[in-house]
Amino acid sequence: MNDKSVPEFYTGAPVDSDDLRFREEFVGELWETLATKHVLLTAPRRTGKTSVMDHLKHFPADGFVVVSANAQDLSHPAELFHAILDTFLDHHPKFFRDKLASGWEFVKGALDKIAEVGAGGFKIALRESDPNWRDNWRQHGTDFLQQIRGHEQSVLLMIDEFPDMLLNVQKEDEQLLRDFLAWWRGQRQEPHPRNDVVRWLIGGSVNLKGTLDSLGMVDLINDLEDIALPPLTEAQVIEFVRQMLGGRGVAFDDSLPAQMVVRLGRPIPLFMQMATQELYRRWKRRPGGDDMANRPLTAEDVDQVFDDLVKSSAAQDKLQHYYSRINRYYTEPRLSAAYEMLAKISLTSDGLSRDALSQEFDRVIQQEGLQLPTHQRKRHFNQMLHDLENDFYVVEVGENQYDFASGVLKSWWKKYYA
Ligand SMILES: Nc1ncnc2c1ncn2[C@@H]1O[C@H](COP(=O)(O)OP(=O)(O)O)[C@@H](O)[C@H]1O
Ligand SMILES: [Mg+2]
Repeated sequence: MNDKSVPEFYTGAPVDSDDLRFREEFVGELWETLATKHVLLTAPRRTGKTSVMDHLKHFPADGFVVVSANAQDLSHPAELFHAILDTFLDHHPKFFRDKLASGWEFVKGALDKIAEVGAGGFKIALRESDPNWRDNWRQHGTDFLQQIRGHEQSVLLMIDEFPDMLLNVQKEDEQLLRDFLAWWRGQRQEPHPRNDVVRWLIGGSVNLKGTLDSLGMVDLINDLEDIALPPLTEAQVIEFVRQMLGGRGVAFDDSLPAQMVVRLGRPIPLFMQMATQELYRRWKRRPGGDDMANRPLTAEDVDQVFDDLVKSSAAQDKLQHYYSRINRYYTEPRLSAAYEMLAKISLTSDGLSRDALSQEFDRVIQQEGLQLPTHQRKRHFNQMLHDLENDFYVVEVGENQYDFASGVLKSWWKKYYA
């Protein structure tokens, strides 16, 4: 019964490039932008950034060599260069050895030592090749880009979860962060991207500009072209549900896809996948033998699946991230206020007005015993609402009316934090 062309469910891992749907147009636009610019790709966690970046890697536009690295756990620019060099060698060994390393003693020395160090030893060999590899990050970074620029080959350097690395660096050494960003900006401006074979695509779940803004460093990255991953549309959610269930022989009535749209709110694709998979499991578990067995799934099944999803341990750690990251990235008094406001909004059926939120904000400020002049209070309030919108917690659902962006997140917030 199963149609072989129906994709698997993906409930956490990036979607395989062959199975990736709804992103064709966006991927085309990305390549078009990359022809002349460096790009910053932002969207919340679990919405499909890495899947798109994997797609660029597996189906590169004409003439591009694509090298990607994940920067999440890195805390020094030198570590970033080593990570890039390591995957560069892994994925493009011929270009790396014959061209990139040619005339670059630091790297050639390391290549010669790989055999000695053993499997996976390139990073170790790089460190041994220059005992001062950390302090010399600027030299090695400059040499690296210089080596690429010695050839005609266009090279796209994709760094995923880059804002996390910047925050890690900042925690250890704020001056190093500033030096690194200034160096990197210089490398993006001279040569101008139009005359450069090097392209950067930076991915991240954190609002990088907001974060750097609060450190007074946003001017160091504001030349990057800011591109948001578009949220899936209602029509795409409906198409997804129809294909994934219909393709597996599940019977359902028209109320089902419509209710999926309602319960998802602004869809976080991961939750769309999890809920649809759960509907499929319900169908498979249905009791056999009587007429009920062939009862099509309905909107009620969707409601039950979502109510269970919010309580499930599978969703728990994914949702917890949304809660915890406010603690990590927001500062007082916006931090406490953000928690209080989200709790209040989660209790409503269709959100709160800007005025109501503003009053709530003032109440929190007073409760915290903060004496702020009116203009300061306003500034903090506006900034907080802006951040909550930017970080995809809330959306303006009607004029001056704010509600949770994700229906799943709203139900979860209400259950655990209201
Ligand atoms: N185009 C898509 N269609 C359907 N589901 C998707 C799509 N892109 C992502 N997902 C879902 O989102 C999950 C996370 O994808 P991923 O690319 O790792 O997101 P991110 O890098 O933004 O955290 C996947 O496991 C899958 O459930
Ligand atoms: Mg990712």
